[in-house]
Amino acid sequence: MKVEFLYVLLVGLIGIVFAQDSTGEATQAVTTEGAQTIDATVDATVTATAIAATDAVETTTADVDTTTAVDPTTAAATSNVAATTSSSSASATSTTDTSSCLDADSFSTHDYFPSKLDFSKLDSTAQFNVTYSNTYKLVHNIALDEYYVLYCTKAAPSLGSTFQSKTYIQIPVSSFAAVDTRVLGFLDLLGQSNNVAFVGNTSNVTTPCITNKPAYFNVSDPNLDRTKYGLAFYPTSPSNDPNGVGLGIGYANTPLGNAQWVKYIALFTNQETLADTIYDDISTDYNTYRNSLVNHISYKRNITFMDYDTSSTKFNIMQDQYFQNLTSDAGATLIVPTVLQPADPSVMKGQLQNTSLVIDLTSASAFNSTYGGWQNWLGFSDDKISSTTATQAEAFKQTRKYVNSVDAPPFARNKQAWRLDLVSDDGSLDWWTRGMARPDLLLQDLIQAQFPDYFKTRNRVFLRAFANDESSRTASQDSYQCNLNNWEKAASVSYSNTASDTPTLEALSNKLSLGAIVGISIGGGLVALTCLATVIAMFIRKFKDGGGKRFTRLHDETMSEFGALDRDPMIIEEITAPPGGRLGGSGRGH
Ligand SMILES: *[C@@H]1O[C@H](CO)[C@@H](O)[C@H](O)[C@H]1NC(C)=O
Ligand SMILES: *[C@@H]1O[C@H](CO)[C@@H](O)[C@H](O)[C@H]1NC(C)=O
Ligand SMILES: *[C@@H]1O[C@H](CO)[C@@H](O)[C@H](O)[C@H]1NC(C)=O
Ligand SMILES: *[C@@H]1O[C@H](CO)[C@@H](O)[C@H](O)[C@H]1NC(C)=O
Ligand SMILES: *[C@@H]1O[C@H](CO)[C@@H](O)[C@H](O)[C@H]1NC(C)=O
Ligand SMILES: *[C@@H]1O[C@H](CO)[C@@H](O)[C@H](O)[C@H]1NC(C)=O
Ligand SMILES: *[C@@H]1O[C@H](CO)[C@@H](O)[C@H](O)[C@H]1NC(C)=O
Ligand SMILES: *[C@@H]1O[C@H](CO)[C@@H](O)[C@H](O)[C@H]1NC(C)=O
Repeated sequence: MKVEFLYVLLVGLIGIVFAQDSTGEATQAVTTEGAQTIDATVDATVTATAIAATDAVETTTADVDTTTAVDPTTAAATSNVAATTSSSSASATSTTDTSSCLDADSFSTHDYFPSKLDFSKLDSTAQFNVTYSNTYKLVHNIALDEYYVLYCTKAAPSLGSTFQSKTYIQIPVSSFAAVDTRVLGFLDLLGQSNNVAFVGNTSNVTTPCITNKPAYFNVSDPNLDRTKYGLAFYPTSPSNDPNGVGLGIGYANTPLGNAQWVKYIALFTNQETLADTIYDDISTDYNTYRNSLVNHISYKRNITFMDYDTSSTKFNIMQDQYFQNLTSDAGATLIVPTVLQPADPSVMKGQLQNTSLVIDLTSASAFNSTYGGWQNWLGFSDDKISSTTATQAEAFKQTRKYVNSVDAPPFARNKQAWRLDLVSDDGSLDWWTRGMARPDLLLQDLIQAQFPDYFKTRNRVFLRAFANDESSRTASQDSYQCNLNNWEKAASVSYSNTASDTPTLEALSNKLSLGAIVGISIGGGLVALTCLATVIAMFIRKFKDGGGKRFTRLHDETMSEFGALDRDPMIIEEITAPPGGRLGGSGRGH
């Protein structure tokens, strides 16, 4: 009797503490500091001018990457153009300095590239590098081990045969062929998307930032007008295209490593400083989200990324660096399969036994598009999932050890099957063309899929809740973020979960009696008493603080003790009050 009274008191106290904390702190998790919604046009004009007056060099660095002018009026005017219409960026590219370079001698002593890539920010995951000369840049594509000479003079420099250059490209380039459409996401960020004349696949243009629809880059068309582009990006080493260079984007690199390609693309448009800023913003947010989870998650989720290759007729269970880092950065564990490339759907099914979230990259035609078709294909069925779940729960009550069943893995029980086609157009995925450029968005999606309560309000951008029959849609111009001109730093939080997705807690709290729970708690080493003492201490402290404080620090240790009793799935701890924006509280000032 006494014990039960204690328990009721305890639960009551925890309830009070959480009711207070979850309101204040959950909000904080989603709103960035002083989030201002400023109309882009007004913002660009007003702030750029203001900043140009006080700190012209900084403005140039942040916005007017292609310009060397530090004249405040020029800087303000140019950034205004860049912020309001991305299509005008091409004209911003032809500036006084680069056009006078046209008449310069290749070996001029004047430096025509004053805005260089910041080498201190180019980390070792970058698969490219550049060496600057006064009128040309020597670009090394490390992924493909190729060199390209990018020159701003009228004619290509005669560099002799001292080194091998695959090709010579006149820069700044103002028209592109996106043969590898993964370059589109980067071109968007650089404000170059309306300068894309050709694409490797027209249905892959899922971005709403492009208003002039590019034409199909039909290599087998003898009449393909190659004068319409100054530079073509190929997925690998280009053959027979003097204006072609390769990329080296791929799963062998980490998500942030791939995002660094924006700096490579910027070498061709003289937008190095803008690219440095873009990458800083993306990596800052990515790391903020990662640090908000990593080492805080008490019950990690197992994630499987899978794909089915219709040509080899084999499944692929992703183990690449990209998926490893993405998964661990989302606070989860990437499943290591016992069979790497199953050929048989039933073998693939077996590999999903311990998977809490499956992310399927298979082309929808392989399984007739629907989740039902997908389940059918692999050999899952809703009936079997529910009957197995029931049997498992019974067995679990006896054995006290839950073993995942191949017929009802956690993802199947909890409907956690996802696909990356939330935004897609006729089978072409926006994730394909933008995912590599925006790992920060993908990471947020992965967090949201695992922990729906992490964000108070956020719309996923890539991941579709496949098992819940969410529909794909086309991109919306309003929410897409064609550029990062109004970027606001994400808030840093400390997020933890208190429940495993194995039915441990469900079985304990739903199927066992209250007395049994308390018994277990007490038996487990006076956990509840410790807990009670902590709660009372905190309650008193909170009371003393007058309740006027915005945040209450809850420590992880305390939380895991609560974990066994309280079902509130979230606890967020404010680590740092987010500092003002980079330029002092007004975002980046565009
Ligand atoms: C890139 O090249 C520069 C010299 O042009 C060098 O200082 C820098 O260390 C190189 N960076 C990497 C990541 O290799
Ligand atoms: C590409 O060009 C070839 C040769 O002109 C033509 O036969 C083919 O239909 C074109 N493909 C597309 C998709 O336009
Ligand atoms: C990627 O993950 C590996 C471990 O798999 C880790 O050592 C490395 O630091 C991570 N890289 C980045 C850029 O986070
Ligand atoms: C799932 O986990 C259990 C327990 O750790 C293990 O015995 C089993 O081999 C795992 N299944 C797969 C497919 O890896
Ligand atoms: C995660 O997978 C491992 C095997 O890889 C398994 O032992 C463990 O039980 C799984 N976790 C959950 C919560 O299913
Ligand atoms: C897809 O539908 C076709 C025709 O209805 C059927 O023959 C095929 O077996 C289905 N495939 C899967 C994977 O369910
Ligand atoms: C373009 O991509 C879509 C979707 O990925 C595909 O169905 C189509 O066959 C592709 N077209 C060409 C010409 O490769
Ligand atoms: C078009 O997008 C699909 C994925 O949606 C991808 O598999 C394909 O390679 C892309 N095509 C080109 C030419 O980039």
